[in-house]
Formats: sequence, C-alpha cells, structure tokens
Amino acid sequence: MSEVSDPIFARIAARYDLINRILSLGQEKRWRSRGIEMLGRGTVLDLGCGTGATDFEGRVVVGLDPVIEMLAMSPVRDRVVGTGEALPFQDASLDAVFSGFVFRNLSSIDETLAEVDRVLKPGSSAVVVDLARPRSGVLRMVHRLGTAVLLPLVGLLFAGAPREYWYLHRSLDSLPPPETLYLGHALIPEHIWRMGPFGFVYGVWLRKPDIEPKT
Ligand SMILES: C[S@@+](CC[C@H](N)C(=O)[O-])C[C@H]1O[C@@H](n2cnc3c(N)ncnc32)[C@H](O)[C@@H]1O
Repeated sequence: MSEVSDPIFARIAARYDLINRILSLGQEKRWRSRGIEMLGRGTVLDLGCGTGATDFEGRVVVGLDPVIEMLAMSPVRDRVVGTGEALPFQDASLDAVFSGFVFRNLSSIDETLAEVDRVLKPGSSAVVVDLARPRSGVLRMVHRLGTAVLLPLVGLLFAGAPREYWYLHRSLDSLPPPETLYLGHALIPEHIWRMGPFGFVYGVWLRKPDIEPKT
C-alpha cells in the first residue's frame, strides 16, 4: 500500500466502526446486506471499502480505498490503494462492484460510474448504498436540523472530531436525490430503494447491459 491519505477519514479511522454503529442504531450492516443480496457471485470490488465492514457472504473480495488508515483496519486480504475515479483494474475483469456510503465523498460521480462500467463484465451489476435526504420537504427539513446537531455531537463525544462529522452533515446536501443522480449513465439503474428512518438511506442496483448478439 502506498502513502495516500485523506485527512478526514484518516483522522476518524480508529473510531469509524463504533460511531457508525451508534449513529445507525446498529442498522448499517442490514442496510449494506440488502445491497449485497442483489449482487452476483464471483469477484466483487468493494469500492471505498474503508475498514472492510461489509459482509460479502463468501464472495471473493478486492477492497479499494484511497486512505491507508482505513484500509489498514480491514480484514480483507486483497486490498488496493486507489480511487473510484481511476480504478486500477482491466476492462471487463470484475463480476460485481459494491460501494457503501462512499458516493457523497467522490470527487467525480460521472468518472467513477464510467470506471465501474469499464471494469464490469457485460451482463453483471453494481450496487451503491449511501445516505441522502428524505424525499418529503418537511421530513427533509427535520432531518437537516437533526443531523446538524446530532452528527457533530456524536463526533465530538466518541472521536473528538466534531468538524469531521459536521462534514458528514454537509455532504448530505451535496448531491441530487438518488432517484435522479443515477440517470443518464452507461450503467442502468434498474431498482432504487429507500431504507432507514425517514428513508434517508438508499440503495441502487445498476446493471451493465449484456453484449448484443450479432445478427
Ligand atoms: C463513509 S466511509 C465508508 C466505508 C465503507 N464502505 C463502509 O461501508 O463502512 C467512505 C470511504 O470512502 C473512501 N473514499 C473517499 N474518497 C474516495 C474515492 N474518490 N474513491 C474511493 N473511495 C473513496 C474513504 O476513504 C472512506 O473509507
């Protein structure tokens, strides 16, 4: 692993799993596993794998993350330093891609989706699970107020890192809702679902079309 580091995730790496469990009231594993159920077998790329908290139910996993402090905590054997925007894999070499709670942190979603499309085998699929604001205007407002208070407070109490968790609050408003975010790319968003309180967690199943048979 080479020396690449992101200040925010490098600073919270040691407390990341604990705080996730607290903030999600123990639900984060279930949110990830609903996405894993939709994936095929074979070799899966865990894009932005962090501490390797996802259970891939016996699949062969390659974990990729730009932050060595997060990667170092992962139990996965095959780990690569890298970013979603420039995946270090050959074209059509992977059977599936999963990404949990990463997409708000990317520098380019367009570039990452193009890269995921490139490395996937035709006919295979990717699943993204991430956080977003609730769909209804009122719930969105309540949720925004709640995360503005709760996230920095939990960050302060459990990691001494209120600014890092203020960033998490801000990141929730950085993107359009998932129902529009994944439209217009090569990968086809076949199914989008909402989970968690107020539906502030979402999953999207993206399919890479099969090669057209020659006529
Ligand atoms: C909130 S954590 C999620 C970790 C893990 N996937 C999980 O489900 O717990 C976000 C992760 O995305 C990684 N990340 C940030 N920018 C990235 C990028 N451009 N490409 C890939 N991963 C990135 C961070 O280093 C961090 O480990």
